[in-house]
Amino acid sequence: MASNKRKTQRRFVARNSGIHGKGVFATMRIPAHTRLIEYKGQRLSEAQVDKRYADDDDPHTFLFSLDDGMVIDASVGGNSARWINHSCAPNCEAVDDGDRIYIETLRAIRPGEELSYNYGIELEERHTPELKRLYQCRCGARHCKGTILQPKKKTKKK
Ligand SMILES: C[S@@+](CC[C@H](N)C(=O)[O-])C[C@H]1O[C@@H](n2cnc3c(N)ncnc32)[C@H](O)[C@@H]1O
Ligand SMILES: [Zn+2]
Repeated sequence: MASNKRKTQRRFVARNSGIHGKGVFATMRIPAHTRLIEYKGQRLSEAQVDKRYADDDDPHTFLFSLDDGMVIDASVGGNSARWINHSCAPNCEAVDDGDRIYIETLRAIRPGEELSYNYGIELEERHTPELKRLYQCRCGARHCKGTILQPKKKTKKK
């Protein structure tokens, strides 16, 4: 039967990644500065996150920390944004818009390219060799920093 429904091809798809587990790949050319998807999930306070993951030492995370202290846990109600891996040379960025987070392209992306953004993970504790090993980056970028952790901000000594 004939149908007027126009099939819209998805711009990206989740599949196995060489960086880690599942990743998200462009299925077509995507122009620079395109809003791709919202980072969805359950909103929790830091206390709720601490309670939920109290016994969890695994650095693998679907958590996204917001500036207001809340956290999005994409393991509950998350969409395919949760599969986007970190890169030290990212082609996307996470953009804060109101109280929502969107993933947007930083530059034009070719079909087949893996989407990535800088997680910017900041840990309060000292970045010991053990911690750096746990958070080792496998993005494969020429100038990969070797860790998905954000460098510590230098504080001025008096
Ligand atoms: C939001 S998930 C991304 C999807 C992930 N690949 C998966 O299959 O579950 C984030 C986790 O993926 C892993 N990951 C993401 N980017 C990485 C990278 N560049 N190097 C190593 N592990 C990475 C880390 O374990 C991180 O906590
Ligand atoms: Zn890297």
